[in-house]
Amino acid sequence: MNGPDHPFPAPLLERLRAAQKIAVLTGAGVSQESGLRTFRDPQEGFWAQYSPEDLATPEAFERDPRLVWEWYAHRRSQLASVHPNPAHRALTELGNRLPGLTLITQNVDGLHQRAGSRDVIELHGTLTEVRCSACGQRPKEWNDHPRVVPACPDCGGLLRPDVVWFGEILPQGALAAAMEAARTCDAFFSIGTSGLVEPAASLGRTVRQRNGVLIEINREPTPLTPLCDYAFHGKAGDWLPRLVDAVFGSGL
Ligand code: OAD
Repeated sequence: MNGPDHPFPAPLLERLRAAQKIAVLTGAGVSQESGLRTFRDPQEGFWAQYSPEDLATPEAFERDPRLVWEWYAHRRSQLASVHPNPAHRALTELGNRLPGLTLITQNVDGLHQRAGSRDVIELHGTLTEVRCSACGQRPKEWNDHPRVVPACPDCGGLLRPDVVWFGEILPQGALAAAMEAARTCDAFFSIGTSGLVEPAASLGRTVRQRNGVLIEINREPTPLTPLCDYAFHGKAGDWLPRLVDAVFGSGL
């Protein structure tokens, strides 16, 4: 009889099938196959065009709100022409089959939700909403002109993207939920992230302090790789559908 038509070790599949709680952390690599750029890919990443300090910091917004607003309006406009890819859809399928799955993302593109994932923990906020830089209100509608920073309907302050900038604290509820999931899960997946930005990068490490299983799916090795029980390097859109089939399909 031929061996399994997938490369996943039987012990991994058994642990995933037995897992009551699974935590998944995703990064920009999960949206790369949808056509959205990642942050640190050499030559093509967003940061290759701009220095992070020029755009994704409160100081940058203070210094030149229109430049920062324009860059985020550009990124938001891209969302209209991209769609969830097989990686997003496989994670939605996994969540549908495993009620104990918690999906945590560093991405702000909303593609997990558009793929049907529910209760997504957005550690770094979302491109799809804005908040007032003065009073903190989150208007549901705003004048979304790419080159004019809109004013808050409540206080007249400048609206800003509802994302986390360098040096800002993460949404405390989201961070607490993500840490709780990492602390209590039987298995933790780190998918499509370079594992360089804290505190997200430390979530996977908490599994090491328990007997949870740590799995990485990423195009290339990261600082987390040496700590992983399993590391599958390549495209998330290739690996994830095969993993879901192997766990729930004929498997072994
Ligand atoms: P990065 O660009 O740092 O890392 C993306 C990772 O995905 C890299 O390791 C790539 O090798 C990998 N990758 C690319 N395409 C892939 C694919 N198709 N399948 C699997 N892996 C792929 O993005 P993040 O790790 O998400 O934070 O960056 C973390 C945070 O840094 C972002 O949330 C953002 C940024 O500064 C803030 O803006 C606060």
